[in-house]
Amino acid sequence: MTTLATRAELAIHGGKPVRETLLPYARQSVDEADIQAVVDVLRSEWLTTGPKVGEFEEAVAARVGAKYAVAFSSGTAALHGAAFAAGLQPGDEAITTPLTFAATANCMLYQGARPVFADVCTDTLNLDPEKTAEQITPRTRAIFPVDYAGHPADLDSILALAAKHGLTVVEDASHALGATFGERRVGSIAHMTTFSFHAVKHLATGEGGMVTTDDPRLVEALQRFRNHGIDRDAHQRQASGEWFYEMVALGYNYRLTDIACALGLSQLAKLDANLARRRAIAACYTDAFRECPGVIPPMVRGDIHPVWHLYPIRLDLEHLSSGRAEIFRALRAENIGVNVHYIPVQLHPYYRDHFGYRGGEYPIAEDAYQRLISLPMFHGMTDQDVEDVVRAVRKVIAAYSR
Ligand SMILES: Cc1ncc(COP(=O)(O)O)c(C=O)c1O
Repeated sequence: MTTLATRAELAIHGGKPVRETLLPYARQSVDEADIQAVVDVLRSEWLTTGPKVGEFEEAVAARVGAKYAVAFSSGTAALHGAAFAAGLQPGDEAITTPLTFAATANCMLYQGARPVFADVCTDTLNLDPEKTAEQITPRTRAIFPVDYAGHPADLDSILALAAKHGLTVVEDASHALGATFGERRVGSIAHMTTFSFHAVKHLATGEGGMVTTDDPRLVEALQRFRNHGIDRDAHQRQASGEWFYEMVALGYNYRLTDIACALGLSQLAKLDANLARRRAIAACYTDAFRECPGVIPPMVRGDIHPVWHLYPIRLDLEHLSSGRAEIFRALRAENIGVNVHYIPVQLHPYYRDHFGYRGGEYPIAEDAYQRLISLPMFHGMTDQDVEDVVRAVRKVIAAYSR
C-alpha cells in the first residue's frame, strides 16, 4: 500500500515534480573575467596559434606537475596525438576499458591499431590491472586507462605492468584534471596524460584538449602531429628562408586557438575553487545516499582525491522493483537531468559489426552499465539544486523499493 501511494506522487505518474524546471546533468560556468579574456584576444593580433597557446600549455603543465604540455583542438584530438606518439600503427593492439566514451578506443582505430578491452574493477569501475595483464599479446603496444568520473585508475599497477612488457601508458584523464593519486598529481604519472576541455568539464574552452608528458621526444611527435606533420626542427634549421618547411609525417590540423587558450587560462585560475565545490556536492550526495537502500554511491579508494566530473550512482536492483530505464525516466520527470555514462564501447553497433562483440564479454562493466545513473554534477550548482537532486532520488527510490 505504502509503495503504491508513494508511486502516485511521482511526476511520471502525474504527481508534482520536485522542480519546476529541468536541472541539467552538467553546465559550464563562464564569468565576466572569462568573457574579457576572450574579448582581449579578439582585439589582438592573433586568433589562432599565438602567445596564448604557449602560456596555456605552460600553465597546465605547472598545474599538473608535468614538464611539458601540448594543446590540441579537443580531447579526442589529444588522444589521437597520444596514440600516434605512442607509435600505434596497423597490426598493433592497445588495451582500454569498456566503460568510457568511444573516443578513447576510436583513437586507436584512427591509427589503424586494434582496440582491445579489459574488464573493470567492481569498486571504482576503472580498468582492472589483472584483467589487463590477461589481454597482453606480442602485438600490444600501449595501455589507455581512463580515470572514470574523475577517480584515477590504478596507475601504479598499470605502469608496473607496462614496464614489464615495454608498453606505453596513455592515461585518459578527460574526467580528472586536478585529481591526485597519493602525493602525485594526475598529469605527471603516466607516460602521457590526455585532458579534455569540452564545455562540461572542470575547465572549459568550448572544445579543447591537452597532452602532458615529461618526455621531450613525445612532445616533438605531438607538436608535429597537431600541425600537419610539419617538422619544426627542419623549419628552424632553415633560418635562411622563412618560407621553408617540411612535412615529415602525416599529421592533422588539431591546433587549439588563442581564443580558446585565453578562456582556458582564465578558467584555470578558478579551477581549485571549482574542484572544491564539486567535492562539497559529492560529499552531500554521498552522505544523503549512504542510508538509502537501492542506491550505491561511487566508491573512493584510500589515498585518492577524485575530482568528480561525474557522480555516477549504481542502483541496487535487488532492492528495487523496476530497472534502470524506469527509474531514469522517473527522475527525468521530476526535472532532474540524469544521464548514463557509459554504454560499454564494444556494445556500440560499430564495434559489434567490426569486431563481432555480442555482449557478455566484459561482465563487470556490462552489469555496471545496467545500474548506472549519473546525477547532475557541475560547480555552478546551488545548494537548492543539490537538495532537489537528493529529494528526487529519495522520492523515486522509495517508490520503487521492494
Ligand atoms: C573519457 C573521455 N575521453 C575522451 C573524451 C573526448 O573529449 P572531447 O569531447 O574533448 O573530444 C571524452 C569527452 O567527453 C571523455 O569523457
